[in-house]
Amino acid sequence: MAAKLRLGVVFGGRSVEHEVSVMSAMDVMRAADPERFEAVPFGVTRDGRWLTPEETRGLLERPDAPFQKRLDADVPQLLERREVLEELRRVDVVFPLVHGVNGEDGTLQGMLELFGLPYCGCGVAASALGMDKALQKQIFRAAGLKVARHLTVRAQEWGGGSEEISRGVEAELGYPAFVKPSNGGSSVGVSSVRSREDLGEAMRAAFALDRKVLVEERLRGREVECAVLGNDDAQASPPGEIVPAGEFYDYTAKYLDESARLVAPADLSPAAAQEVRTDAVRAFRAIDGAGFARVDFFVTEERGAVVNEINTLPGFTPISMFPRLWQLAGTTYRELISRIVDLALERWMARSARDARG
Ligand SMILES: Nc1ncnc2c1ncn2[C@@H]1O[C@H](COP(=O)(O)OP(=O)(O)O)[C@@H](O)[C@H]1O
Ligand SMILES: [Mg+2]
Repeated sequence: MAAKLRLGVVFGGRSVEHEVSVMSAMDVMRAADPERFEAVPFGVTRDGRWLTPEETRGLLERPDAPFQKRLDADVPQLLERREVLEELRRVDVVFPLVHGVNGEDGTLQGMLELFGLPYCGCGVAASALGMDKALQKQIFRAAGLKVARHLTVRAQEWGGGSEEISRGVEAELGYPAFVKPSNGGSSVGVSSVRSREDLGEAMRAAFALDRKVLVEERLRGREVECAVLGNDDAQASPPGEIVPAGEFYDYTAKYLDESARLVAPADLSPAAAQEVRTDAVRAFRAIDGAGFARVDFFVTEERGAVVNEINTLPGFTPISMFPRLWQLAGTTYRELISRIVDLALERWMARSARDARG
């Protein structure tokens, strides 16, 4: 039998989704086909420090680990950690499972490119676009996809509150509107606003997290998500629906009270489901996606499928929407992991072949 592939799983990291990332990674390592893979864990602490596989296992196996999914350790930064770099050198392929900053945003992908390591999922540019809601909207619109009407406001334009921008919001979008940081996730810093007073408050909260903020028209419709898998031949799963209990799908609904229901498959007309699937693949191609991503929509009465955002590293526990949607399409969680690694290797080999010719 051929030697097992050493699958480096990188997780944790600096974002608010640290714990979710730890849970996804533990599930991926448990489920990865033991005949094919040897999982090698690389934890990244809350302050961005990389741990060796041994240190990571030590933290994951603590008696309180099932409840306390937070990685903390007082260690030097990656560049000074020969022992981590040496372990990285020995992996065959990396599965980045770090959400948000320095994980999902293209920086980790760029580092792996420099190291010459194949990795799962989107490349540098697609990851960077996936993190920037303002940039991805421009690309989506250029690709002919529907997006919410919106304004992009920079901190320096807003200052302590701009009369002109507030009037612009009222004239072009109206209330209620949505305010969100351009680089964000997990609904942190996202607010629904109903008045000029709310707007000021929401802008302050969003600018605390980013220098670029989006103000969007509020879309009334169903929140539908679609999972995309593949490289240049990417396919879309059947869509699923998020039914938030509260006003919108906020941080509490996502992680604290889990009050939102995930309905898979979504109860949509065949035509609406088809539009979502087609547009999900178009959105993936528009950012030059690779491997996998989840594309989120609002399906509205008047306009059909409107793209809200693309996530290049969706939640990846077996009960998260992305794996659930593929299960509906007949792909088990284990098969999904194998397929994602195969897509990474396929992309890597195609590129190596081009390099050899070039
Ligand atoms: N334009 C909008 N109209 C209506 N609801 C919105 C709008 N934008 C965001 N929301 C609500 O806020 C949630 C979080 O916003 P989203 O843009 O998806 O940011 P995040 O990256 O934090 O998930 C969405 O799931 C949805 O419930
Ligand atoms: Mg979202």
